[in-house]
Amino acid sequence: MQELIIRPRRLRASAVIRDLVAEARLDSRMLVQPHFVVPGEAISEEIQAMPGIEHQSVDRLLETVESDLELGIHSVLLFGLPEDGDKAPDGRAAYADGAVVPRAVAALKERFGDRLAVMTDVCLCAYTDHGHCGLIRDGRIDNDASLPHLARMALAHARAGADVVAPSDMMDGRIAAIREALDEDGLVETAIMSYSVKYASAYYGPFREAAHSAPAQGDRRSYQMDARNRREALLEAELDIGEGADILMVKPALAYLDVVADLHEAFSQPLAVYNVSGEYSMVKAAAARGWLDERAVVLENWHAFRRAGADIIITYHGRQALREGWL
Ligand code: PBG
Ligand code: ZN
Repeated sequence: MQELIIRPRRLRASAVIRDLVAEARLDSRMLVQPHFVVPGEAISEEIQAMPGIEHQSVDRLLETVESDLELGIHSVLLFGLPEDGDKAPDGRAAYADGAVVPRAVAALKERFGDRLAVMTDVCLCAYTDHGHCGLIRDGRIDNDASLPHLARMALAHARAGADVVAPSDMMDGRIAAIREALDEDGLVETAIMSYSVKYASAYYGPFREAAHSAPAQGDRRSYQMDARNRREALLEAELDIGEGADILMVKPALAYLDVVADLHEAFSQPLAVYNVSGEYSMVKAAAARGWLDERAVVLENWHAFRRAGADIIITYHGRQALREGWL
């Protein structure tokens, strides 16, 4: 037998050596905690399909974010829900005076200033009565007619003080429309994190319960990407960069790590992954039955995101991970 010269196991001998040579590392500062903000006061209601995640009114959100900051979560991504009965064909409640997301942004920035990075999801689906992410004309999504509404929504968030606006609608040209609206208003410093590569995915199921945003008819396949496509992701990212995107995102995360690796290789912009609701809830469900070690699975997944090249991890598990000292 030939003598073994190269023995990879040498560097696996102890935890200290394994830690010394580990390629992918995690840091609480790369985590983004999503929040679902609702109108009203003193509301904190757990979302059934997402144990540990709540609908919160602005007053409760402030308390949650304060304790999260102490844990080490410095970035949030806000989703809003309109008042009952405020949904309309064009989703106008998204940017109406007093809309819940701008109110939340202003309150968070007033209280926490630059200690907190406030990002906001920009999409109409929680505000349209039909539940689609754009406007509908003659039974189809009208791409270009949707753009001014998305831009107005982004502008409302940016004027309230959002650090980053994050369009998730997947209309063509929305990054340019948003950038132009922000710049015209003098908000040249507000960054755009584009959901550049967002697939039509069954993993959004629990979120749609949380955001009350399931389409009344049809699905989102005419605007979100087809899960069979890989090269198209590069085109989507390239277009967004050309239109002014500052941060790129791939969503969902786990089933799309090839795409994360492709974007990491091709572009120098910071890259986010969205570890989406279905990915969260399936881990939660299995852990609740004792079928999986929750901490170990979450860390394995997060390390996979890092290995593939993600810089930012948007995850519902952030708070629990820090509270329970997983990092
Ligand atoms: C809205 C939006 C969705 C998610 C983020 N923004 C749902 C969708 O497109 O249907 C999914 C987030 C998650 O599942 O955690 N456009
Ligand atoms: Zn949407």
